[in-house]
Amino acid sequence: MKCTRCRATAAVALPSHNAGFCPDCFQVFFSRQVQKAIKEKDLFQPEDKILIALSGGKDSLSLARELKLLGYDTAGLYIDLAIPDSSVKAGEHVGRFCRELGINLHVLDLQKEGLPIPEVQKKLRRPVCSVCGQIKRYYFNRFALDNGYSVLATGHNLDDEVARLFSNVMRWDTAYLGDQGPALPAQEGFVRKVKPLYRLSEFETANYSFLAGIDYCYAPCPYSRGASFTFYKSLLDELEHQQPGRKINFYEGFLNRARRAFARQEDLEGLKPEPCPVCGYPTTGEVCGVCRLREIMGAKG
Ligand code: AMP
Ligand code: FES
Ligand code: ZN
Repeated sequence: MKCTRCRATAAVALPSHNAGFCPDCFQVFFSRQVQKAIKEKDLFQPEDKILIALSGGKDSLSLARELKLLGYDTAGLYIDLAIPDSSVKAGEHVGRFCRELGINLHVLDLQKEGLPIPEVQKKLRRPVCSVCGQIKRYYFNRFALDNGYSVLATGHNLDDEVARLFSNVMRWDTAYLGDQGPALPAQEGFVRKVKPLYRLSEFETANYSFLAGIDYCYAPCPYSRGASFTFYKSLLDELEHQQPGRKINFYEGFLNRARRAFARQEDLEGLKPEPCPVCGYPTTGEVCGVCRLREIMGAKG
C-alpha cells in the first residue's frame, strides 16, 4: 500500500478514511484531525490558557505533544492517586515527558487532599473506579479555575466517546446525552472542558505516540476490571471492522443531528447546581460528593 499523501510505502492503514500513510504523513494526518476538531467544534482560541489532564497514557501525552507543536498555551496537570507502584510510574512518565517538551507540569497529590485511592477503596468497600473518576473530575475543574486556566482538555479519544455514547443510548440516559460532546461550555463554577482527540481512534493515538517516540505508561490501574466500557468497545470494533467509518459517523451524526434533542435536560428537570457549602464548587446535592467523601475519610482542612 502507498501513502495517500506522498506515495511512499504506507506504514499505517486507515480503512475508515479510505487512506494509508507513511510515518511522517500519518503525523500530519493526526495533526489535521486535531485542528479540524478544534476549528469545527470551536474548542478553544489561540489566547486560551489550556490545562491538559495528563494521566501518563498514550492519549493524553499525544494530545499534549500535538497542542504544544501547534503553538497553544498549555500546561499539564497530573493527579497522583497514591496507588502504590502504578501512580509512581505514571508520575515519572508524565514528569519526563513534560521536561522533554518544555511543558509546565502541576502535580496534585490525593494523599495530601486526604483522598488516597487505596484508602478510599478500603473505606467504601465497593468498586472505586466511579468514585475515582468523580474525584478526578472535581480536581480537574477546581484546579483549572483556581489557577486561571480557561480550558481543561482531556485525552478522551473516539473509542472512549463512542463507547460512552452507546452506553448512554442503551440506558436512554437523557441527561448525559444532553451533555456529551467534545466541548462543555464554561458555566458558573465550571471551567470549559474539551476533548480535542475525539475524531481519533485508540489505534490512531497508539500509532501516533509510537511514531512520535512518546514514552508513555502502560501500567493499567490495579482497581479497574479492564478498561472502561470494554465490552461495548469490542462490539463497536467489530462493527467498525465490518463497516469502516461507522464510529465517526455515529458520533458526528449524534453531535450534528441528535444531541440538541436532549439539550438542557438537567435544567428542565430542576437540577440546577448550587455552590457546595463546604468548598464552594457547584453541586446538585446538599454537600458535594467530594466534600462528603472527605468527611467520611476524616480528611482535615
Ligand atoms: P481515563 O478515564 O483513565 O480513560 O482517562 C481519560 C482522560 O482523563 C485521560 O486521557 C487524561 O486526560 C485524564 N486523566 C485520567 N487519569 C488522570 C490522572 N491521574 N491525572 C491527570 N489526568 C488524568
Ligand atoms: Fe481510578 Fe483506577 S480507580 S484510575
Ligand atoms: Zn464541596
